[in-house]
Amino acid sequence: MSQLDKFKRFTITSALPYANGPLHIGHLAGAYLPADIFVRYLRLLRKDVVYICGSDEHGAAITIKAKKEDTTPQAIIDKYHQQIKTSFEEFGISFDIYHRTSSAIHHDLSQEFFLNLYEKDEFVEKFSEQYFDEDFQQFLADRYITGTCPNCSNPNAYGDQCENCGTSLNPTDLINPISTLSGKTPVLKQTKHWFLPLDKYQPWLEKWIETKEDEWKVNVYGQCKSWLKSGLQPRSMTRDLDWGIDVPLEEAKGKKLYVWMDAPIGYISATKQWAIDNGKDWKLYWKKQANEADDSCLIHFIGKDNIVFHCIIFPSILHAHGEYILPQNVPANEFLNLEGDKLSTSRNHAVWLHEYLEEFPGKQDELRYVLTSILPETSDSEFTWKDYQARVNNELVAILGNYVNRVMILMHKFYDGKVENETGKIVLTDKNINAGLGRLYDDIQVNLEAYRFRQALQSVMDMARLGNRYLTEQEPWKTIKTNPEQAKEALHNSLVLIGHLAACLQPFLPGTVRKVVDMLNIPFSAIAMDAEVAFESGHQLNQPVLLFEKVEDEAIEKQLQKLADKKAAAAPKQPALVAAKENISYESFATMDIRTGTIITAEKVAKTKKLLKLSIDTGLDTRTIVSGIAEYYEPEAIIGQKVSVLVNLEPREIKGILSQGMILMAENSEGKLSFVTPAEDMHNGSVIR
Ligand code: MF3
Ligand code: ZN
Repeated sequence: MSQLDKFKRFTITSALPYANGPLHIGHLAGAYLPADIFVRYLRLLRKDVVYICGSDEHGAAITIKAKKEDTTPQAIIDKYHQQIKTSFEEFGISFDIYHRTSSAIHHDLSQEFFLNLYEKDEFVEKFSEQYFDEDFQQFLADRYITGTCPNCSNPNAYGDQCENCGTSLNPTDLINPISTLSGKTPVLKQTKHWFLPLDKYQPWLEKWIETKEDEWKVNVYGQCKSWLKSGLQPRSMTRDLDWGIDVPLEEAKGKKLYVWMDAPIGYISATKQWAIDNGKDWKLYWKKQANEADDSCLIHFIGKDNIVFHCIIFPSILHAHGEYILPQNVPANEFLNLEGDKLSTSRNHAVWLHEYLEEFPGKQDELRYVLTSILPETSDSEFTWKDYQARVNNELVAILGNYVNRVMILMHKFYDGKVENETGKIVLTDKNINAGLGRLYDDIQVNLEAYRFRQALQSVMDMARLGNRYLTEQEPWKTIKTNPEQAKEALHNSLVLIGHLAACLQPFLPGTVRKVVDMLNIPFSAIAMDAEVAFESGHQLNQPVLLFEKVEDEAIEKQLQKLADKKAAAAPKQPALVAAKENISYESFATMDIRTGTIITAEKVAKTKKLLKLSIDTGLDTRTIVSGIAEYYEPEAIIGQKVSVLVNLEPREIKGILSQGMILMAENSEGKLSFVTPAEDMHNGSVIR
């Protein structure tokens, strides 16, 4: 009996990823793979479940990216929504719908939520001081402000959150705030906003969250408690922005909904769209039912940086509205690291899903397997390519693939792939295997229901280990000569075990299961997780195919090299400097007579590309100097330019013109030239030394 049996139906969500860039393995391991495993398990139990996700298309994450790529927010979301959706499909993340927050149905529902709370007088209207960038003449979104976290002193905290300690912040909490637009200190300016009174909800939140003490993960429960302890502040649900959902009030023209107000409502609007498309009633999955026992079980899968929004802010909105259910659980994962370093989009330190798909075609289950084995369930964890190789080669190939392959090969070798006996039905006859299998089923179920997916997968692999041990004990390749009945029974038992293995692998490795089911030549319905596996006598197996291939060293080295190359490319470029010269004496320096001067006239020297003929007021005289700066300066543009002149350089003839001295120029590593002038205005002839 499953713990989950007390629920009528399930509403499962994965955090809506920002449509501002491709997905990497950290995304998959955080909020998607665990949810997909859980949902697939629920479906195997024939539960009524809807699995919801979509693109988060508002907020500064989008506009910042648009600015970076020099395009529009709309172009950004269209591009990345499609790319992200495709990556999820390729990795078998089995959403019932992958929706978008830019859709009309979502804008409508978000405005409806806002108006519902507005009409109930839930919002506190406040004129507040908000950071404004004077250079850019605009109010600054939280994400456009960085500064020092008041909680942990991280100097790179954002205006809405410190990613180092996880504290949720208001921009005015930051010490030394800086606008990321201009790089300057922003000023505070008056603006009106609508605040969600989290302080008012605090007593209710405390009571509600306390009921979760035994059920929620320690890290999630602990974070909530610590926020409550420091006291919740009202949080503005509106923003002065030009990208997002309009605040549906006459007096709020030009203002948008806070992205963290609209995005979680995206779970609901996506469900509405799914219900329209599939003839379902979305209210069953989101609204409180007449009888509490009929409520849907809502579970949010997220990464740890989203905990406050899913455990405090969104529940407060749902509570204030009043008609909606609250999350039963929020099994947040910690972070995944890569090769000893944080995953980073900006430094391009990542394994991108679309690149993996190109370089390891058809190997989605291999990545699902490795990531599930190292999910950051209770603490941060790490992906390394060497570990990927080891897990594929030593576990998938050597344990799982090898077991299935040995049994299939022997069945074909001895019986041409025909499963046949006198009793007319092939079932498990070995008591030990049966008992071992029972224990493993229990383990798998208990761990899946406690969101311990790593452990659940290990128990599935233990099933393959059990099979391998059994084969080694039975040695059907030997007993086929001495005791053919025993050999046959051993192989039949092994075959039934493969059926169970396939059943339990379904939440984890869907592509592999398809191959196994094909080989066994049975329908999917024959491998339910809660039913017997049996073959009719006379059943014909299909030819074996290899489930997994070894990962060679070269493939791994290539990936490591690629990461190193990316790191080098992303590192800030040091200008290539001209090597330093030998020391000289002061006397030799003092022989140079350098003066400030002004360019009086300038013209191009005929038939040359680089040369300008200048007349310079040096204070001492007005003289002619030929200078190689024509590629950088238009003659007309430099009349009146202050310069530094080496006046005692031996005069020499250049293109028939006598040049009397030299203009000093600074030259950078790209060969760009710039005049050297005193920082303040000096009369011509001033000495430079
Ligand atoms: N886009 C957010 C992020 O990537 C997650 C939004 S989850 C939702 O951090 F609940 F708001 F939808
Ligand atoms: Zn901090």
